[in-house]
Amino acid sequence: MTYHGLVKAAIEARIASYAPYSGFKVGAALLADGGRIFTGCNIENAAYSPTNCAERTAFFKAVSEGARSFTAIAVTGWRDGDQVKYTYPCGVCLQVMMEFCKPSEMAVIVAKSYDDYRISTLAELLPNGFGPANL
Ligand code: THU
Repeated sequence: MTYHGLVKAAIEARIASYAPYSGFKVGAALLADGGRIFTGCNIENAAYSPTNCAERTAFFKAVSEGARSFTAIAVTGWRDGDQVKYTYPCGVCLQVMMEFCKPSEMAVIVAKSYDDYRISTLAELLPNGFGPANL
């Protein structure tokens, strides 16, 4: 499977990034069951800790619109107008993915450009992660 379209959506999503403190713009595109794509960007805050990552923005938009099951997310990070090397999701975002995704099937795509990206599963990035199945 090619993730070109999802990567393109992530790259476009970073344009709306609100990152006046770090200057690090992140875009994400989340693929829901049924083919719908939800995009997100990072949203920073003067108090720093309320900052929301691009991945979680995409997840919260999707869940708030009724989506509950996902198969892939593409992530891209930018600094000073240039795409930086592969940007992997932070631990908090991986934990949010644990709630709504099958760890061995969820594809996490980190993109350096439209056609240069790496694919991991959620299980590879968060082995033995805690999720609904553990309760
Ligand atoms: N950030 C994301 O949005 N996603 C990531 O995967 C890594 C970090 C954001 C949070 C903050 O706004 C900025 O990047 C610097 O950490």
